[in-house]
Amino acid sequence: MISIIGLLASVCAVAGCAPAPGQHYPLDTLSPKSDVTQKFYDLFVEITAVDVVILIIVAAVFFLALFVFSSRPGDPGEPSHKHSDVYLEMLWTIIPSIIVVMITVPTVRVIMQTQPDHWSTDTLEVRVIAHQWWWEFRYPSSGVVTADEVHIPVNRTIHFSMVTRDVIHSFFMPAIGGKRDVVPGQTNQITLSANETGEYWGQCTEFCGDSHANMRFRVFVDSADDFDRWTKHQLEDPVQPDAGDAAAGAKVFANAPCAICHTIRGVSGFSKEYTYGFRGPDLTHFGGRGTIAGAILDNTPANLAKWITNPDEVKPGANMPTLGMSGAELNYQVAYLESLK
Ligand code: CUA
Repeated sequence: MISIIGLLASVCAVAGCAPAPGQHYPLDTLSPKSDVTQKFYDLFVEITAVDVVILIIVAAVFFLALFVFSSRPGDPGEPSHKHSDVYLEMLWTIIPSIIVVMITVPTVRVIMQTQPDHWSTDTLEVRVIAHQWWWEFRYPSSGVVTADEVHIPVNRTIHFSMVTRDVIHSFFMPAIGGKRDVVPGQTNQITLSANETGEYWGQCTEFCGDSHANMRFRVFVDSADDFDRWTKHQLEDPVQPDAGDAAAGAKVFANAPCAICHTIRGVSGFSKEYTYGFRGPDLTHFGGRGTIAGAILDNTPANLAKWITNPDEVKPGANMPTLGMSGAELNYQVAYLESLK
């Protein structure tokens, strides 16, 4: 009876995980949108099917033993006192071995298929640099640099090569590429081809300090044309406002400590790529991003003001200092950054 109650409770709990009609969970691992995640999903279904068959057989034997072949009060004689049975013991050694092989072979096959050591010549290289607590994306072929929002073209091989500037992180984009740890002193890789345009969520999944849970990102799978347009736009020089709040904000930015850590191309920051030493996200086209602060806030003037006013409240432990900006100065700064579409 206890096992039946347990089973019913599990069914209810799992049913509670189902998304409402018309909705989906952003970190759903069961909606593959690339060749790699499709293979992971197929493997999951294959092994689950084997497991379900095993569960049915074990449950059937269990219930037969419990209700059909158990002894009852008043049965004549003692139950059998057999201590061992060679054939039975061979059987329950061989069957689990076969099950392990059935799981291992397809798993190893998928690992080999999803970790190629060479890729086609038109592959797009994307360098991923993990920081406490944000993601930097660099495209060596075009020179584009962005943060927390990575764009890739649909149906083209993408090679993500990943390094970390500080501690171990884990690059997890369930719909597109699965999960890969990003380990100091090492370059790890994911090679994939996304097969459906859209916006997908990602999250760091290795505990990496105070704001580990606030280290999110977005993957935008674009059509080839949209991706080319996006790349072209990213390479354009930043907006230089000549009047109004945004122009006043440009002056605030230049004179505030922001310019020490943040690059706005042609205005401030680092000219060359480097992996170590502190820096903040490249803000050249900041206003064109949908999210800020490790993709945990929507990019709105109110959220940006909140983030600049007290970074530690939004992302505990963040390296961005509290600058004490307020009033008109803060509004100008927000207007300038939001103008950088
Ligand atoms: Cu980075 Cu957790």
